Amino acid sequence: MSQFSEISPFDITDNLFELIGKDWALLTAKNGDGCNTMTISWGGAGIMWNKPVAFTLIRPQRFTYGLVENGEYFTLSFYDEKYREALQLCGTKSGRDIDKVKETGLTPVFDEAAPYFEEARLVLVCRKLYAQDLDKNSALVENAVLPFYGEDDWHRMYISEIVKVLKK
Ligand SMILES: Cc1cc2nc3c(=O)[nH]c(=O)nc-3n(C[C@H](O)[C@H](O)[C@H](O)COP(=O)(O)O)c2cc1C
Repeated sequence: MSQFSEISPFDITDNLFELIGKDWALLTAKNGDGCNTMTISWGGAGIMWNKPVAFTLIRPQRFTYGLVENGEYFTLSFYDEKYREALQLCGTKSGRDIDKVKETGLTPVFDEAAPYFEEARLVLVCRKLYAQDLDKNSALVENAVLPFYGEDDWHRMYISEIVKVLKK
């Protein structure tokens, strides 16, 4: 039986700055019959178009980018500190080169919408609503923004409805 219970996004009590920026998250999407996952530590969550949403930013060279582009759903999942090494690996190796499920030993759960991992302590199932590429011409404070785009690899920002929250 699943150890997760479904809660409302409004009942998430974690500090989102800690959760995203310090704990990091795995962004996971379907890859054929399997899945791929990558670590993220930028983004946010809030309200947009009267819906609870997540803001995620993916650079175009990520293998995960194509998977997110091709699908309607993905998940964001959060872990205890003991999984830091797994998150480090998922944030430094590409699914083009290795099977991250095999390498990390994480256990995929194939939710009807999108995959996540049994080891997570919190999972957000996200449905893409809006995507837009960040661009140089929109940077208002150039020295805060441009240093992150030396390779001209501007993130695509996705605003996604949080359609389900699972918590242990
Ligand atoms: C702590 C951490 C945070 C990261 N945050 C992001 C992010 O928000 N957006 C992004 O595009 N890449 C981010 N990355 C880089 C990707 O996780 C990394 O390039 C990964 O290997 C991509 O895997 P893939 O090619 O299988 O998609 C982050 C990496 C780390 C270690």
